[in-house]
Amino acid sequence: MSPSPPDDAAAPLDDPQDAIDAAGDGKGDGLDPRVREHTAGDAQTGIPFIGAGPGDPGLLTLRGKALVDDADLVVHAGSLVSSDLLEEHCAHAELVNSVGKDLEELVPLMKDAHEDGRTVVRLHSGDPAVYGAALEQIDALERAGVPAYFVPGVTSAFASAATLRTQLTLNGVADHVAFTRPQGRTLDPEDDHIAEFVEMGDVTTCIYLGTHAVAETMDRLLDDGVDPDTPVAVVYHASWPDEDVLVGTVADIGGKLDEAGYRASAMVLIGEAATGAGYERSYLYGDWANGGSDDSTAETEADD
Ligand SMILES: C[S@@+](CC[C@H](N)C(=O)[O-])C[C@H]1O[C@@H](n2cnc3c(N)ncnc32)[C@H](O)[C@@H]1O
Repeated sequence: MSPSPPDDAAAPLDDPQDAIDAAGDGKGDGLDPRVREHTAGDAQTGIPFIGAGPGDPGLLTLRGKALVDDADLVVHAGSLVSSDLLEEHCAHAELVNSVGKDLEELVPLMKDAHEDGRTVVRLHSGDPAVYGAALEQIDALERAGVPAYFVPGVTSAFASAATLRTQLTLNGVADHVAFTRPQGRTLDPEDDHIAEFVEMGDVTTCIYLGTHAVAETMDRLLDDGVDPDTPVAVVYHASWPDEDVLVGTVADIGGKLDEAGYRASAMVLIGEAATGAGYERSYLYGDWANGGSDDSTAETEADD
């Protein structure tokens, strides 16, 4: 988060980039001074930026639910936040869809409502820390004198792993996870690292924002020499009532997705872990549990 909002009169909303730069300049030792005052679960003052989770209202956190239950104004991320969740938890509040609104419109809208004494919450899909564009809103709000903070949520990659009844990390299969997106409007081709992650072999690659480009992404992977038989799972609308799962390989998942017709709102997982097959029993519930470790300081899943 950015430094405390100024005590004096709120600065007018200027160029949001100035707010971002000023917030960066204010991070004395590299961190916002409030980092050591709060834990991620603390109730704080200001506008909460809440992770709504992947869709199922039951996957909203208890903290998030308490905040939306209490809200007068909910600014939400449009079709990425499920209508079930909005109906179940936000029916009492004014709802504003943020899609199509720029920072110059969104920030004064939230600031004015907050200063009018209304309880404002900002609802992002999944977790706001993943492809959420939340920090720029927080920095602009704080520059304008309105404190704001994050409330984490369940990101769609985690919900997709649960749907697939697997883990993103699996002993002997995948020790690493990459959250990535394909080359697109905001990424140059040279910033597209999907092939590099997949070629590492022991990485589960989770592609956000790539539903419309699965066939192109797989073609690029094949051009880059990735094994065509590498497993791929696509979870559309994880945890929604119309959730769907497609499974295939780098060679054939593009055709399957074109046939299904999904162009948005799906998570693409590449790697052996997507299938949940072929892993080895873990050290944690094997040799380590049986006293095989003499390294009492080593971190294990038990204390992670
Ligand atoms: C703008 S990003 C937001 C991601 C979000 N902050 C999160 O943590 O899941 C939107 C992308 O997230 C993925 N996504 C969001 N909700 C999803 C769901 N319920 N099932 C599958 N993918 C989802 C899709 O790849 C979509 O294109």
